[in-house]
Parts: sequence; structure tokens; C-alpha cells
Amino acid sequence: MTPDELKIAVARAALPHVIEGELLGVGTGSTANHFIDLLASEQLRISGAVASSEASAARLRGHGITVLTLDEVIASGRRIPVYVDGADEIDPGLHLIKGGGGALTREKIVAAASDCFVCIADDSKCVEVMGRFPLPIEVIPMAAGLVARALARLGGIPKLREGFVTDNGNIILDVAGLKISDPVAFESELDHLTGTVTNGLFARRRADLALVSSAAGVRTLRA
Ligand code: A5P
Repeated sequence: MTPDELKIAVARAALPHVIEGELLGVGTGSTANHFIDLLASEQLRISGAVASSEASAARLRGHGITVLTLDEVIASGRRIPVYVDGADEIDPGLHLIKGGGGALTREKIVAAASDCFVCIADDSKCVEVMGRFPLPIEVIPMAAGLVARALARLGGIPKLREGFVTDNGNIILDVAGLKISDPVAFESELDHLTGTVTNGLFARRRADLALVSSAAGVRTLRA
């Protein structure tokens, strides 16, 4: 199977987790894009979607799917029962690295607002210890140097993502050279760096379920 076929297979496997008539949180990236397209082609009826990026919102709207802001959902007293999104790395505890597409902040927000996070990925994303994929960190532009220096002190090798601005108007530092053996503790440590908006470690709010595709099929991992 090609990498794209593996993404389509796992996106399709997420469809039974969609609750018809309810709201749905929708992530960002190439796997999430396949999921959005299947949601439309399989004509699953949701009452609306909350998107984790402008790109996903546009794709959803392009299929005629209603997109709501998170504030509209909160103000109406409703819940987001399920959030479906991809990942850049998944460890055995279903902690994730996310943000390869730069949408980590809104992804973390939608994940935090959702009851169940269903992560969809092919098995190239599964690792024993996270850190092979450079950890994305969204940073307020004026703090780039300050945060980069602090990250270097923590043992990382930060690199500015050239020519990229997030949906929130900020920059991304991609941090290589990390070996993240305690994701919950490291996420908290990064949260305390002044000038960062969000780090791409999804450890405190990890996935509840990971659907992982390989040539052998799609397997389900639970936290
Ligand atoms: C977007 O910012 C990311 O968190 C994506 O969810 C992640 O990079 C996975 O993307 P792909 O599905 O394109 O691999």
C-alpha cells in the first residue's frame, strides 16, 4: 500500500466513531483531509464541525458541512463528543507529537474541548520514545530568540520554520534532538517557557484511542 492508501484506510476506519446528529471536532493535515473528504462522500450527517485550522474549516465548508466556532458551541451549552485528528508521533501511552502542519494550538484547544480524541495515523508514526520528529512549538514572534535559547538549554536544537505563519499570527520553532521519556512532565516544563503559545506535545490530553493503519489492516490502540 502507498502512504496515501494507508492514510485513506485509517481515515475510513474513523467513520464508525462519528456520532450522527452530533457535533464533531475535526483536525488538520493530510490524514484529516482524507477523513473530511470521506465524511462528505459517505454522507455522514453531523450537526456541525469545529475545525482546528482555517484550512480544515475551508475544506469542510467546501463539502457543504456547517462549521461552528468553539465559542458558538460553548455558548449553546453543547459538547463535542468526538475529535478526529492525525499525529506526527504516537508513543505506546498514546501521547502524541503534533503540529507538523502548524495547527498545534487550535488542535490542542479542540482536543481539550472534546470528550474523546480519536487519533488516526499510519504505523510509520508509532515510536517507543517520542522525539525523532522535531517537536513543533508555536511562539510569539518577538520571543523567538528567547525561547530558542531556553530550548537549547533543555537539550533541544530549535530551528525556525522558514516562511510559515500560524493561523494565530505566530511562528513555529521545530525542536530536534529531544528524547521525550516523560511526556507529561516535559509538556508542563515547556508550558512554562515565557513567549511560547503552545507546544506540540499532547501528553496531559493524549489520545483516547489511536487507529493505526499498516499493510496488515487497521488496529485500535486504547489509552
Ligand atoms: C497538523 O498541525 C498536525 O498536527 C497533523 O495532525 C500532523 O502533522 C499529521 O499530519 P499528516 O496527517 O499530514 O501526517
